[in-house]
Amino acid sequence: MTMLPSKARVLHRLLQFRSTCFGSPSCGKAASSRLVLGIETSCDETGAAVLDETGEILGESLHSQKVVHLRTGGVIPMVAQQLHRENIERVVQEALERSNVDPSQLSAVATTVKPGLALSLGIGLKFSQKFVRQHNKPFIPIHHMEAHALTVRMLQPVAFPFLVLLVSGGHSLLAVARGVDDFLLLGRTLDEAPGDTLDKVARRLSLIKHPQCSTLSGGQAIELLAKDGDRTRFRFTTPMGQTYDCCFSFAGLRNQVTMAIMKKEAEEGIEQGTLLSCVNDIAAATQHTVATHLAKRTHRAILFCKANGLLPSSSPTLVLSGGVASNQYIRKALSIITEATGLQLLCPPAKFCTDNGVMIAWNGVERLREGKGILPPSVDVCYEPKAPLGVDMTAEVKAAAIRLQSIRMKIPN
Ligand code: KG4
Ligand code: ZN
Repeated sequence: MTMLPSKARVLHRLLQFRSTCFGSPSCGKAASSRLVLGIETSCDETGAAVLDETGEILGESLHSQKVVHLRTGGVIPMVAQQLHRENIERVVQEALERSNVDPSQLSAVATTVKPGLALSLGIGLKFSQKFVRQHNKPFIPIHHMEAHALTVRMLQPVAFPFLVLLVSGGHSLLAVARGVDDFLLLGRTLDEAPGDTLDKVARRLSLIKHPQCSTLSGGQAIELLAKDGDRTRFRFTTPMGQTYDCCFSFAGLRNQVTMAIMKKEAEEGIEQGTLLSCVNDIAAATQHTVATHLAKRTHRAILFCKANGLLPSSSPTLVLSGGVASNQYIRKALSIITEATGLQLLCPPAKFCTDNGVMIAWNGVERLREGKGILPPSVDVCYEPKAPLGVDMTAEVKAAAIRLQSIRMKIPN
């Protein structure tokens, strides 16, 4: 459709008005809606964002350390801390400037304080406590996984309770979200998280040397290469087939993959650190096994929820989030399970699945609305590197020992 020039000009002026109006003190929206600044530094992203109460993002800024950590072969906490220290002030300043919001207009500051890398959490928390004291603003400490779980509600109305699968570089958990700060933990990883496994497999395969993968995270590199791979050329056993609970384990799979890589290196007569000819097939088989493992544990969690009336009978929902949730193949695997069990599957877009300041600000909005966990600026808060989410129900899930009817995991590439 073509637009008349005059109509286009009017639209342009309206859009200009909308963007200048955002966040300005005299603007109805900013004046009537409470504003929250969110700050994230739990791992390797320095993020900040200002949101209004409706979930409108007024301004955001994100500094990713990904490329630095790719070069050093993983996150070195002291390096992460230094990069947060160098960037936090600028990132927060940018988010405020882009929103056209002055600190005096904020209703609260929300910051990730758990779980995460101690050195990284410390930078965000110290900055935030100084900031709230300086501007005399309430402080809302945020649980990073609670924020991942609630992000979807910023984008569309999703009523509690819903089931959530959170998969990232640091976490793997299944929980029922019953309220903003009310979770039932059904499953968690017993060793490492799927993103960590994919990052380590990518490193072992030296994918950083692959022309298409030099700036991609391990998970992204595996997803890209798997598209041209034949997953049937390597057969890895899906973990925990004989354990009838909803917990996860990925270390054994990583071991299987490493052994396969070593065998291939010997066959091809090449040294570790050289790209194998079969990287696409190994990527495809690894991704498939991760996807199948996540799908099976989630299937059992859905059956447990159904047996115990933990989800509503009308539009029961599974929310998939966290960095690994941006993987399209994994999304398809989960959609096979939700289709078979009558749930709707919701995944935030990739940019909201990985760590960012927006999700923290949104969690602040949710808590502000309900008046939960809002502290005066003077209260001293400590960060917690380890912090479980919700009430631990993993023993009850295990005791239920639910057997799965087999669902064919024919996942299209
Ligand atoms: O949520 P996130 O940004 O940070 C943590 O809290 O860990 O997740 C980062 C993780 C990394 O391990 C990365 O390899 C993985 O998410 N990841 C992916 C994809 N994109 C990022 N894993 C699989 N497929 C992807 N497309
Ligand atoms: Zn995360």
